Amino acid sequence: MKNFERHLVTSALPYANGPVHIGHLAGVYIPADIYSRYLRLKKEDVIFIGGSDEHGVPITLKAKKEGVSPQEIVDRYHSIIKKSFEDFGISFDIYSRTSNKIHHETAQEFFLTLYNKGEFVEKTSMQFYDEAENQFLADRYIMGTCPKCGAEDAYGDQCEKCGSSLSPEELINPRSVISGNKPVLKETKHWYLPLDKYEDELRKWILEDHKEWKPNVYGQCKSWIDSGLFPRAVTRDLDWGVKVPLKEAENKVLYVWFDAPIGYISATKELTPDWEKYWKNEKTKMVCFIGKDNIVFHCIIFPSMLKHEGTYILPENVPANEFLNLEGDKISTSRNWAVWLHEYLEEFPGKQDVLRYALASNMPETKDNDFTWKDFQAKNNNELVAIMGNFVNRALVLTSKYYNGIIPHPGADTEYEKEIRNEILKIKENIEKNIENFKFREALKEAVNITRLGNKYLADTEPWKLIKTDGERVKTIMYYSIQLCALSAILAEPFLPFTSNKLFVMLNIEKPEWEKAVQFDIIPAGHKLNEPELLFERIEDDKIEFQIGKLMKAKEENELANKTVIPQKEIITYDDFVKQDIRIATILEAEKVPKADKLLKLKVDTGIDIRTIVSGIAKYYTPEEIIGKQVCVLVNLAPRTLRGIESNGMVLMAEDKDGSLKFISPESLSSNGSTVS
Ligand code: 2FM
Ligand code: ZN
Repeated sequence: MKNFERHLVTSALPYANGPVHIGHLAGVYIPADIYSRYLRLKKEDVIFIGGSDEHGVPITLKAKKEGVSPQEIVDRYHSIIKKSFEDFGISFDIYSRTSNKIHHETAQEFFLTLYNKGEFVEKTSMQFYDEAENQFLADRYIMGTCPKCGAEDAYGDQCEKCGSSLSPEELINPRSVISGNKPVLKETKHWYLPLDKYEDELRKWILEDHKEWKPNVYGQCKSWIDSGLFPRAVTRDLDWGVKVPLKEAENKVLYVWFDAPIGYISATKELTPDWEKYWKNEKTKMVCFIGKDNIVFHCIIFPSMLKHEGTYILPENVPANEFLNLEGDKISTSRNWAVWLHEYLEEFPGKQDVLRYALASNMPETKDNDFTWKDFQAKNNNELVAIMGNFVNRALVLTSKYYNGIIPHPGADTEYEKEIRNEILKIKENIEKNIENFKFREALKEAVNITRLGNKYLADTEPWKLIKTDGERVKTIMYYSIQLCALSAILAEPFLPFTSNKLFVMLNIEKPEWEKAVQFDIIPAGHKLNEPELLFERIEDDKIEFQIGKLMKAKEENELANKTVIPQKEIITYDDFVKQDIRIATILEAEKVPKADKLLKLKVDTGIDIRTIVSGIAKYYTPEEIIGKQVCVLVNLAPRTLRGIESNGMVLMAEDKDGSLKFISPESLSSNGSTVS
């Protein structure tokens, strides 16, 4: 076990091409924040680094779509993202951005060091080029059919459907994302990081020396290494990004995945002149928090860059989380299937910790997890309100009532108080062990256990009854209850910082040190508490239904936008067409078919006869509104029995984009039996 003296905590830099959502928080920023806050409370030397990733094709594509410059896009989203993180208490020591000058200089210097050491392999190859746009088609500028799963919208670097990592030449039927044109191949030169040469050292460093990494991270690394590593190009023919600092590469930039992780270094430089202490000293423990789609970059490529540059330390751990889904479906920016942080705060003002709690207690630590609004409501009402809020409220209100808010002097401990002291020791130890092992869900459960213990203590001792018979004992009970509130405020701080602060204000104390969170004299007898307030409020059904409704609306809008016109059917002859006998008919009677939501039983006058037709229109018309209506009926369709009723013909309908049905009717009143052709 190494003896570290300081901590460098990094969190993946989100692309500044859209706001951040709950998936970002649960996957990366809440775990990184809990970890950093905990270390700070323990008085460790820690810096927590964040920032926006402002290069790469996702940004330029978004700019193109909106007809604005990439700079405008990154300026807009950098400030939205930065504010969301601040609002949710993500306690970065710096939140920087990769368009800063210091970052461009740092990334170029890093590239040049590797270049001058002869680490790169230079290669000229044929790459896809859009002749109409005069542009090479790197990464997401090219789309085509995935060779692995057949999805038609795979990108040049990845198929989002099956998750495979791809290179552009693997795509079937490649097309330019900008013009839709079929690309041509054109020669170009690039610089490659020879990962194949680093395979043995990576195998040893990860698979032998870091067996303690989370199984999902270790497993993904093993599978990459076992299937053989290949040289990775670190330059691109693009104009948005960090310029390659070589004369012969004038129109090229660094690959976004080369420059982005260097962003952690440039942000540290911006934060402190002492930055080398964090990056170039073996006594620093670097931990990189990321989502699972970033594993290869942070475990294989970035460490290779750092190692071969030669002066940097490597990550000690890379605790990647899996993905968070929303109401059973993958979170998607383009489908607006997300809970956006800035919108959440407008709709649930002041409830940052409720979301932090719901996400931390359901974090996708070992597998993908699902966020549902019902679960969010239950976590608030049944856990935060009913356990934590309830205990704190009872402790403070009773102290206010019995002692005017002044903490009483306790009497001697009974066995119960001794047991509580032991329990707290165990809880604190469990929280520490779990946070240090990146098991944040377990740690949070333990933090809530303090108030669970408090509730049981009050329920067992019943001070509200005892006050009439044993005032001295009640003093001890209330003294202990208040100390438990203070301990809970300290130990819950990494998870629920807003609540913790609110509690410190109610208790009228400054935040004590973490190590004190086993002592039962944090607040002395005689200390005056502030007026108690509710820590949490119930969230009622209407608020949850509103959120679910918003998602349903997004789904409908998306389905509508995606619904394409059904392609034309096979050509038929005139003789085929005239085989259909279509007549104008009047609906005489209509009634619902019992136990069938969609069906109406109609009696229609076709001019030929009066007949029964069963039609699947009950969702779109009531029986009353269609009686007397003239419609078109295919009268020579073979009879069919539906729900025991013989249907003789078909009422013709037009199906709208949203799937709803409408009658096709003659423009003006016509005789029943008129032919339609
Ligand atoms: O996946 C992403 O959103 C990337 N922008 C993460 C970059 S992490 C680091 F390398 F900066
Ligand atoms: Zn695929």
